[in-house]
Amino acid sequence: MTDAVQTPSLDNFTKRVFSGIQPSGGLTLGNYLGAVKRFVEMQNDDFETIYCVVDQHAITVWQNPEDLRFRTREIAAFFMASGLDPSKSILFNQSAVPEHAQLGWIFNCVARMGWMQRMTQFKDKAGKNAQNASLGLFGYPALMAADILVYHATHVPVGDDQKQHLELTRDIAIKFNHDYGVDFFPVTEPVIGGPAARVMSLRDGSKKMSKSDPSDLSRINMSDDADTIAKKLRKAKTDPDALPSEEVGLEGRPEARNLVAIYAALGEETVETVLRDVGGKQFSEFKPMLVERAVEKLSPISGEMNRLMQDGAEIDRVLKEGSLKARAIAEPILRKTYDIVGMLQP
Ligand code: TYM
Repeated sequence: MTDAVQTPSLDNFTKRVFSGIQPSGGLTLGNYLGAVKRFVEMQNDDFETIYCVVDQHAITVWQNPEDLRFRTREIAAFFMASGLDPSKSILFNQSAVPEHAQLGWIFNCVARMGWMQRMTQFKDKAGKNAQNASLGLFGYPALMAADILVYHATHVPVGDDQKQHLELTRDIAIKFNHDYGVDFFPVTEPVIGGPAARVMSLRDGSKKMSKSDPSDLSRINMSDDADTIAKKLRKAKTDPDALPSEEVGLEGRPEARNLVAIYAALGEETVETVLRDVGGKQFSEFKPMLVERAVEKLSPISGEMNRLMQDGAEIDRVLKEGSLKARAIAEPILRKTYDIVGMLQP
């Protein structure tokens, strides 16, 4: 895609945020610091905000239906317990808005096999047995592009691991606009950053903190109680040196960097300001500070999640209302897309 590529300026679009989380397993501190905490920060007057539990993505690998229902509600509870307010943000689950899958089909026809084959997350998830992976897992990034573009979203806050998928979303928007000679889809801006764009495993600072790691000690789950959080942080891998007072001193010390970054993100500080305070301290002094901050910030969220989960009907009501608001935006954009593509709508 070189000449005649149309890239409409984002100024022509309503400033709108979209992001999502899969209900495919437990929630970790990575999901909170890399994503939901930042969703809450963007929930202000500058942006319209739309946040989704992406249940259709989850079934790209088999899910027990009862667990899927439970986890869909759990993520909705996590959103609200973290500070997302259904009167300010649209909260819903993906399958309740069929326009995502409908636009997803069109994007399956825009995206190229070669683009999909480059997706590192597919390679990681499919592993050695790619022939046995579902077609949905392979095509997943085209549906993700549809999630975003069916709202003409301009900004997408995510953790660093989603960067490649957002580049693909931009490529799909550009190719669609080019192939049909329109400037209809915005070329979305990824919002990735802050100290916790990539929260790492507590057992190995070179690996991402992930719900699928076999070791529960590698992660903080959003459902962990105060004692468990304290135990995991006390056991977190470190090195024998004292903390540096400047960021360059963290080079080659991934575990130290990760713990400082978590501490910074939880307290809305930068790594630099944290190091100014804690430089020179041993981990035996720093870890209790980290435990205190983590418990203080995370316990109220898990407490509120548990409270909200007591009333599944109320969660369903919020999601239903959100899906109606979401459809009101998505439906005309899908209709216009069909028009552009030449789908007769008698
Ligand atoms: P998912 O469900 O794997 O993760 C949800 C969000 O949490 C972030 N995240 C992390 N951030 C920092 N450090 C970590 N260790 C960490 N682990 C997870 C992810 O980057 C993500 O922002 N494909 C997406 C879901 C999705 C989506 C979308 C996102 C579907 N459609 C449209 C944005 C827009 C996913 O699997 O995220």
